[in-house]
Amino acid sequence: MIQLKDKTFEVFISHQDVSARIQTLASQISRDYAGKCPLFVAILNGAFMFAAGLLQHITIPCEITFIRVSSYEALQSSGKVTELLGLKEDATGRDVIILEDIVDSGLTMKSILGNMAAKNPASLQVATLLFKPEALRTAVELNYVGFEIPNAFVVGFGLDYDGLGRNLKDLYVLKEEQQPNVQSWG
Ligand code: IMP
Repeated sequence: MIQLKDKTFEVFISHQDVSARIQTLASQISRDYAGKCPLFVAILNGAFMFAAGLLQHITIPCEITFIRVSSYEALQSSGKVTELLGLKEDATGRDVIILEDIVDSGLTMKSILGNMAAKNPASLQVATLLFKPEALRTAVELNYVGFEIPNAFVVGFGLDYDGLGRNLKDLYVLKEEQQPNVQSWG
């Protein structure tokens, strides 16, 4: 059990299980992209740990870069995605794989995919560590999913509560009685 500001969280998925799953995803991606040199585009801030864990187990030539977007206003997704740090690399003709920490409403991913598709990559796929199917508000295709989880608030392994908790190596979930009655989170 841990305390972040006013909220209590309990262990949800252990670091060991997260690492094992990430290794499996890395093997799949290395197999699927054999003979290619994919460009990983990790979404800051939340995906930094996922990206680091995954890239250590990618066995084919690859590149990584980072973009930063913000789509949340208070507790609800605004649906408007603002690019705070854009892509510097030329994605034209590249095999792009977006790395995201969590897909919740899907609005952020939908917008990122739209922006990336406009750069004419050879291919465009998504790997997300976590996916909340019950929270999804728009159709997005997710090619690699670490864990499908219930519509609950999670922190750790890169994910935060009000800026805190990103450093935790396990994934934690907000204790049930504290889950507010909203669909999306910031
Ligand atoms: P979406 O646009 O609703 O899919 O939101 C995606 C973003 O919301 C993620 O990249 C996270 O930054 C944030 N988010 C969604 N759910 C959670 C959660 O349970 N914990 C922490 N951040 C979350």
